[in-house]
Amino acid sequence: MTSSPPRPTRVAVLISGAGSNMAALIDAAQKPGAPFEVALVISNKPTAGGLAIAQAKGVQTLVVNHRLHGENREAHERAIDAALMEHRIDVVALAGYMRLLTPFLVRLWAARMINIHPSLLPKYPGLDTHARAIAAGDAEAGCTVHLVTEGVDEGPVLDHETVPVLPMDTPESLAQRVLVAEHKLYPRALADFCRGLQLS
Ligand code: GAR
Repeated sequence: MTSSPPRPTRVAVLISGAGSNMAALIDAAQKPGAPFEVALVISNKPTAGGLAIAQAKGVQTLVVNHRLHGENREAHERAIDAALMEHRIDVVALAGYMRLLTPFLVRLWAARMINIHPSLLPKYPGLDTHARAIAAGDAEAGCTVHLVTEGVDEGPVLDHETVPVLPMDTPESLAQRVLVAEHKLYPRALADFCRGLQLS
């Protein structure tokens, strides 16, 4: 008896900006045999450049504008969760999603939500990671994919990539080198994560 291969994991990518990591995930998903498909891209900002890139690659997009919910973070996250459910999403991949999530959404998607962060976690959670790595005199920098938990950039590490910090580096030049590594890391880490899931 032969068993049919598992269906691809349905991934939603959450963005706030340029979406270069999102583009790398879509490109990887569109290769034959990929274990995941990008079924939806959600931005909290209507101006995010990644929205047009996703549409050009044939992926459905949605703006869930946090400004429409004022101070009510849970209402915004309820709207995101409703969209994720409507699109039968299995896994959420944060890719430059620059809004802090509350425990409400994090708990609903526990063990099913991952993030990419531009540092070698647990070093430099939060912002300005490249400037902090340079100021500390680090010889290496990099990026990390981790499970999202309630603490900011604190969840278990799934995978990482390192790059050298060069003597003349500025935060901008280091960010550019790390971003290239992110585009290699995120598709690999998401594919590995999806292969390990039991989908119903
Ligand atoms: C990436 O460097 C990502 O690691 C970072 O924002 C950038 C988004 O670029 N994320 C964070 O800092 C989250 N804390 P992109 O929109 O081109 O993928």
